[in-house]
Amino acid sequence: MTQRARRIGLVGYGDVSVVHVDAIAAIDGLELVVVADADPAARERAATALGVPVHDSVEAMLDAERLDAIHVTTPHHEHVGPSLAAIARGVHVLQEKPVAHTLAEAERLVAGLAAAPARADGGAGAPHVAICFQNRYNRASQELRRLLTSGELGAVQGAYASVVWTRTAEYYAAKPWRGRQETSGGGLLINQAIHTLDLVQWLLGPVERTDGLVSQRKFAGVTEVEDTAELLLHHEGGATTTFYATLTAPVARPVELEVATENAYLELRSGAGGGLTVRWADGRVDTFSDRVATAGGRSYWGVSHEELIADFYATLDGAEPFWIGPAEGIASLRILKDAYAISGPEFAGC
Ligand SMILES: NC(=O)c1ccc[n+]([C@@H]2O[C@H](COP(=O)([O-])OP(=O)(O)OC[C@H]3O[C@@H](n4cnc5c(N)ncnc54)[C@H](O)[C@@H]3O)[C@@H](O)[C@H]2O)c1
Repeated sequence: MTQRARRIGLVGYGDVSVVHVDAIAAIDGLELVVVADADPAARERAATALGVPVHDSVEAMLDAERLDAIHVTTPHHEHVGPSLAAIARGVHVLQEKPVAHTLAEAERLVAGLAAAPARADGGAGAPHVAICFQNRYNRASQELRRLLTSGELGAVQGAYASVVWTRTAEYYAAKPWRGRQETSGGGLLINQAIHTLDLVQWLLGPVERTDGLVSQRKFAGVTEVEDTAELLLHHEGGATTTFYATLTAPVARPVELEVATENAYLELRSGAGGGLTVRWADGRVDTFSDRVATAGGRSYWGVSHEELIADFYATLDGAEPFWIGPAEGIASLRILKDAYAISGPEFAGC
């Protein structure tokens, strides 16, 4: 794919950054020209692997280089600061999920964007900000959304979703920010299941109330955050989603998202052999498969990071904000923060 030349900086050269580095490299015209990381060892790895200058902060990076955009792939509590530093200079931002580790930080991002100067690349309007909910770009998600908005399905009765995955104590020991309330803002819901919460509210509409419970079933003494959640999400208009998520399984199962409607029952599955199955009430069955791949040595649900990144740059010349921006990011954050609030004092700091 060819694209207008763009100079890009990356903030946070950790596990997920490789997916961003590879996606940028795959698009002609995009050039990753600089990296910032707070950790000297990560800076050394980036300098060796990428051959670009490295800095210890986003501010130093922005002072040293003229950039069109930055990618923010830092821990949750370090999302909004780097994003605002770039926005204040008119530089576009592609930021990893969640939008922030707290609702207050998310609102700070929205306010900073509303007060942003003109974009530095000479285009019309404010800088663009994308939040990386790449699973909206999966073929099966897109087809499910198309069917739900087409009217073909009739009334939507409700949904069921599950995220049954596995994590180890070593996963948290390797990156301690993941298990701490003040740095991650939560556990399973804000880090892993947020993708499915985002899809559910995008597909069935805004969630106006959340019932249920989050709990810590396996990682007591290892983390301060939840590893299991059982929720009932009440969507505007009356439909509900029954939602179960856990990181306690011995092996990961495919993510499941099923929607019951008047005219069909729809089943979305992640991973190999996954996709969308539409079982129509008249007996017809339609299937849509998803692409499956391994990124950065790990298999992510959906392989649509590069599609989101390509779309972000393809639409950058328009004045319209990117369609998955901070306000969209707040929707899933609000659901999970409500779940923490109703689950007891031990999760109040999440
Ligand atoms: N969209 C997805 O599917 C997906 C998948 C994995 C991770 N993520 C998200 O990506 C983000 C990073 O996750 P990770 O697992 O790669 O984390 P990580 O800990 O492996 O890497 C984070 C890096 O950021 C650096 N850093 C921390 N604070 C910084 C700062 N203020 N300035 C510059 N660098 C800083 C750290 O030194 C580290 O190198 C998280 O928000 C996570 O939720 C998203």
